[in-house]
Amino acid sequence: MSHDLPVQYCPAERVLADLALMADGVVAPVFEPPGGQVVLDAAEITATQLELVDPEGVPLATVEVEGNDGAHVWGPVTLLTRPEHGAFRQLHLSPAQLAEQYHGWPTIPVSGPLTHTDLEDIRALRRSVVLLVLCESGDVAAGSVAGLIRATLAAAELLGDAVVGTAPLASRGDREADRLFRERVVAAYAPGRVHRVAGEGELPVEIADVIDVDRPPTHQRGLVVFFTGLSGSGKSTLARALHDVLLEQGHRTVTSLDGDIVRRTLSAGLTFSRRDREANIYRIGWVAAEISRHGGVAICSPIAPFEQTRQQVRRMVADAGGSFFLIHVATSLEECEHRDRKGLYAKARRGEIPDFTGISSPYEEPDDPDVRVDTAGRTIDEALATVLAALETAGHLEQGTPGRALRDRGRRCSPGTRSHSAAQRP
Ligand code: ADX
Repeated sequence: MSHDLPVQYCPAERVLADLALMADGVVAPVFEPPGGQVVLDAAEITATQLELVDPEGVPLATVEVEGNDGAHVWGPVTLLTRPEHGAFRQLHLSPAQLAEQYHGWPTIPVSGPLTHTDLEDIRALRRSVVLLVLCESGDVAAGSVAGLIRATLAAAELLGDAVVGTAPLASRGDREADRLFRERVVAAYAPGRVHRVAGEGELPVEIADVIDVDRPPTHQRGLVVFFTGLSGSGKSTLARALHDVLLEQGHRTVTSLDGDIVRRTLSAGLTFSRRDREANIYRIGWVAAEISRHGGVAICSPIAPFEQTRQQVRRMVADAGGSFFLIHVATSLEECEHRDRKGLYAKARRGEIPDFTGISSPYEEPDDPDVRVDTAGRTIDEALATVLAALETAGHLEQGTPGRALRDRGRRCSPGTRSHSAAQRP
């Protein structure tokens, strides 16, 4: 049967990292004996056999699918080859390679940039050393993996007698679990030959320069502002107003990915079935993540009714090194239906539009938005002030600017109007 043929699937970076560790003989906790089990966030998969490929399409492993709960699939995994992809791939070391090539050299696990004190400490060993960078992605504030490797290469140059190797380490999503996992990986790489550094004190200027480029302050970093809410809740109006304020400030480039506009362009042809809505949000999230990778601001304002898809976007943005800020425009269904600016609710009630969000298709409210704003009975500027204050408090904006921008604008307008001719000076 055709669905029994292996289906190719490119898993998330964290799974690729686990596969690389597995290939190196360091078994990751998600892989349970015997043979290993892999759990994939793969909602769409119905096949019984998967072929895991890297981002360039190279087959890495096969999975016999044993379970599928609609959101994940799992089953034992068999490796085909050692994963080799991505930047700095030539630095990837296995424990066996480390033992063979650098026999007797002390190994220094590196999870942060090395300081003056660390370098002095290492020099005092009077030995050639291996700086083993633990490539843990996921913590945006800690900077990128590539940034840490660049900083460690700079440290090796300062030391003179050091080589840099990397070990992939996917976050388990929990601080304590991550700590245990790190220990396990370090123990596999360097049994008994580990020298630890404290990571305290000032950075040498050569290393600080690398880190400064990699870790701009939050208000200069790529940002995805994601509005979610019912049709007619005021998402687009608020998103446009925020777009204008950020554009006026001019600190970062701003791109708007509005639900209705995306539906006419990037997602033209998609329906409002659950599957197509997920595809729509995935496309928006993908573009937004790329914008954040380049340090820009993406303002998204689709309905995005499903929690799982919103979480997927959050992860994509984090993987791209951007910040994700979720705004729930929590205007009630009654209010949205009362406004019914586009006449769609009336049509949906008459059964003329199937799968209409809030009427005949679900809206899953986010549990933990960064801010919740109800536009009922409030001017756009009032609602916008709430959004700007929350963004500023979270460190995403230059201090003090939003208030000034708002006062300068002095606009009062009802939802759906934004022309400057509607502006009234108080
Ligand atoms: S989403 O669910 O995929 O996020 P999206 O934001 O792109 O939705 O599109 C929502 C807009 O499409 C609404 O503002 C409305 O104008 C229009 N629309 C047309 N049909 C529907 C429907 N069945 N449900 C919701 N919105 C619809």
